[in-house]
Amino acid sequence: MTRILMVCLGNICRSPLAHGILESKLPKSSFFVDSAGTAAYHAGNKPDHRSINVANKYGIAIHQQRARQFIASDFDTFDYIFAMDSSNYNNIISLAKSNADIGKVKLFLEENPNITDKNVPDPYYGGADGFEHVYELISSTSELLAERLKHKHL
Ligand code: 4NP
Repeated sequence: MTRILMVCLGNICRSPLAHGILESKLPKSSFFVDSAGTAAYHAGNKPDHRSINVANKYGIAIHQQRARQFIASDFDTFDYIFAMDSSNYNNIISLAKSNADIGKVKLFLEENPNITDKNVPDPYYGGADGFEHVYELISSTSELLAERLKHKHL
């Protein structure tokens, strides 16, 4: 089993989408996908309704997810840890215990050579169009990442 963790700040907007979208593109028999937030503000909460709605529109169900905080033991549990933006990246790295831990962490959009700004913008304070844009960034990147993961691990 290959384990992949998607991480943002609150674990209610961006990483639940990345979790649901990537999971939909990989066989469950070989890949486990999860998500977490570097902050605990929303721990136990459902994803933001705007993320639930945009995912629904494209046939992905994320309403069953519940937010949790990223913890240091996630470095042991997961093979790949993807940060949605560079602030998330720095917060994750600050909990690393070894170079092996650090080596597991990447900016998610580094997987997509067609995108120049490597930060998934935080849509929390914006409108529905921000969530649509985030969905498109995450979906196109997840397509590339899923192909790479299947090639490497299946
Ligand atoms: P996320 O978005 O990191 O994509 O889940 C946010 C959600 C909540 C907050 C910030 C960003 N907040 O400040 O509560």
